[in-house]
Amino acid sequence: MSNSICYLDGEWQLLANAKVSVLDRGFIFGDGIYEVIPIFAGVAFRLVEHINRLEQNLKAVSMVNPFALEDWSSLVNELIVRNNAGDQCVYLQVTRGVAPRNHLLRDIVEPTIFLMSMPTKSEFDPLPIYAITMDDFRWQHCNIKSTSLIANVMSRFNAADLGSQEAIFLRDRFVTEGAASNVFVATNGHVRTPPLSSAILPGVTRNLLVELLDGSEIDFSESMISEDELFRADEVWVTSSGNELVPVTKLNNQTIGNGSSGPLFHRVLTIYRDFKKSFARSIG
Ligand code: PDD
Repeated sequence: MSNSICYLDGEWQLLANAKVSVLDRGFIFGDGIYEVIPIFAGVAFRLVEHINRLEQNLKAVSMVNPFALEDWSSLVNELIVRNNAGDQCVYLQVTRGVAPRNHLLRDIVEPTIFLMSMPTKSEFDPLPIYAITMDDFRWQHCNIKSTSLIANVMSRFNAADLGSQEAIFLRDRFVTEGAASNVFVATNGHVRTPPLSSAILPGVTRNLLVELLDGSEIDFSESMISEDELFRADEVWVTSSGNELVPVTKLNNQTIGNGSSGPLFHRVLTIYRDFKKSFARSIG
């Protein structure tokens, strides 16, 4: 079986056999931070950005980053080699560790460190999805990639119950992000995404697109998007490490634009994929 090897607390083992204590704070409190890193052409894409975000997030929750960038890099690379699974995503999680259940315990000696890889479709043609909008009922620190994801899970359940694949959150009637993605819209040729704040995850895919769009001819800005503007946009798409860019063609059963992925989506996807290819060439 591919992706069968994982790393847990210093040991390489079969994913099917890997076990953590029931007293692990990740299990008891969702007290952990995670990353999902895409592997492209056998190499971790935007690894430094992912590990930097991990570092910042661990600091934000008073945890110490157990490894330096080079150590994370070797672990991720060894996992890719051991699983020999081609294009995939590496899932990486650090929890505060194992201790008697007590909210206040902060100085736990050993964090729990876990890495696995998951299959992904490479260079797939992104099929349009449907989304629903939902009031953003999550907490005020959505910039932290916490493993406490119950609100996001509930939102995806809601979306699925309504025949959709993603939930787009609105806070005070302005777009924040998706349950597991960032949001972009295009209106009259102008592409926008909400600015960074504690209301959204600083998505690695989002941030790369911001860089690429800033350096392109495309009219682009980071600005707040109202509920009304979202529904009246010509194009809406969502971004994430696992699924790259995915067009949204229906929102709450209302057709967006002409109901298919739009020209700006395809232009931006091409820019993104060209960047990935040049990255693959630079390391190959
Ligand atoms: N989710 N916003 C949220 C709430 C997310 O969970 C994600 C990614 C993103 C996009 O971030 P990035 O481009 O760094 O993947 C935005 C991951 C992939 C997940 O939970 O599976």
